[in-house]
Amino acid sequence: MVDSRLDQFIRRIKAQRACLNMAAGLISGMSGPILELGLGNGRTYDHLRELFPARDIYVFERDVAAHPDCIPDETHLLHGDFKETVPGALARIGAPAALIHGDIGSADSARDAELAAWLGPALRSLAAPGAVILSDRAIGDAVWPPEPLPRDVAPGVYFMYRAVALH
Ligand SMILES: C[S@@+](CC[C@H](N)C(=O)[O-])C[C@H]1O[C@@H](n2cnc3c(N)ncnc32)[C@H](O)[C@@H]1O
Repeated sequence: MVDSRLDQFIRRIKAQRACLNMAAGLISGMSGPILELGLGNGRTYDHLRELFPARDIYVFERDVAAHPDCIPDETHLLHGDFKETVPGALARIGAPAALIHGDIGSADSARDAELAAWLGPALRSLAAPGAVILSDRAIGDAVWPPEPLPRDVAPGVYFMYRAVALH
């Protein structure tokens, strides 16, 4: 039987949570804020708040329409299109990030592919050495080496990279 859209959604969301939970362990020894690209309903943002209560979490979103208790304050919300907010973001967030998570997918696969190809290079300077970069799209193939996924996440469902640490 072919997976329904519901099956695909559930698989993607379970993969997202597994990858975020694994990333929390991977970055536990390093400092730096968390970047969330795509607030949506704010569900993932809420999970990030649970995982990282002591870190600044900066959210990038064009159309803010989340659950009211899942909208960051103005300091932590970079409101606008990624192509306007990402390039100058380092000055705003103050330090490169320990974790960058992008949940940017839409029903328009051509638009998603174009955005994913743009985002990786645009995010390069925002990732601290050793940072984890996670996304529902292959944003980092040309920028960072892949990081092994959690055992229960199938390849291609979620994408995890690690910015090379400087020694
Ligand atoms: C799949 S939703 C994110 C869902 C979110 N993880 C949640 O927990 O609800 C993708 C979000 O990315 C935002 N987005 C997509 N492309 C964008 C762009 N170019 N600039 C800013 N925001 C964008 C959309 O407005 C949408 O809210």
